[in-house]
Amino acid sequence: MKTIAVANQKGGVGKTTTAVNLAACLAAAGRPVLLIDLDPQANATSALGLDCLDGHSVYGPLLGGKSIVEQIIPTRFDHLFLVPADLDLAGAEIEVARVDDHLTRLRAALAPLATDRPFEFVLLDCPPSLGILMTNALAAADELLVPIQCEYFALEGLSKIVQVIEQIQSCGANPQLTLGGILMTMFARTNLAQQVVDEVRKHFGEKVFNTVIPRTIRLGEAPSFGKPIIEYEPNGQGATAYRALATEFLQRHSS
Ligand SMILES: Nc1ncnc2c1ncn2[C@@H]1O[C@H](COP(=O)(O)OP(=O)(O)OP(=O)(O)O)[C@@H](O)[C@H]1O
Ligand SMILES: [Mg+2]
Repeated sequence: MKTIAVANQKGGVGKTTTAVNLAACLAAAGRPVLLIDLDPQANATSALGLDCLDGHSVYGPLLGGKSIVEQIIPTRFDHLFLVPADLDLAGAEIEVARVDDHLTRLRAALAPLATDRPFEFVLLDCPPSLGILMTNALAAADELLVPIQCEYFALEGLSKIVQVIEQIQSCGANPQLTLGGILMTMFARTNLAQQVVDEVRKHFGEKVFNTVIPRTIRLGEAPSFGKPIIEYEPNGQGATAYRALATEFLQRHSS
């Protein structure tokens, strides 16, 4: 079981789009995937066409002594399961901060999965900001997948994330955490976007996925229909890109 945090403290860079569509493509390839919606905005939950259910989220396992296994719901896709978000999660930021083991709460909450309900991949859709939920995700994950938008300040945000990874490693919360991959998202055919991709590749080399996600109208629309792109427009550019990402992701994880 590999746990991957899809994270970037910057808002609106394609975290949820990537978590949902990568999860859907991995599941379509027959790989058992659990997507955990860690964002009180519940965008990943609604992008799969599911509603928030009161009392059904990681909040209970984080703070209420509930088991994570009981929070898992099936989706209409084979091999794809979800722990949805609910309104309680909005309070988790503050409440988790008050408990002793506040950095490793999520890690402890997810531990039973390995024995009781193993998946091949667990994807964590993180909220923006470097808050408690995101740092908990980094402490719980084996690796980080960082989507970044092909725009001017991309590198600045990335160096911040690298710093945070180092902090999480060195404080002992998760010495094994690695930067698994950087994904360039919302690529438009402009010189600036190409320069940004080149610049990020120059600094981060192999860490950057070969697959670049294009900006397409359909990718932007799909969540409002509650559909991953492979269902909404299976043969379009967006679906092709996320399928290619899943293939590359699986190559990186075959050992
Ligand atoms: N490749 C793309 N092409 C077009 N629109 C996109 C693409 N990727 C994401 N979007 C749209 O951009 C917006 C932000 O994307 P998304 O919600 O995935 O980002 P996020 O990083 O999860 O945001 P937040 O930080 O608020 O959680 C959404 O409306 C989404 O539908
Ligand atoms: Mg999001």
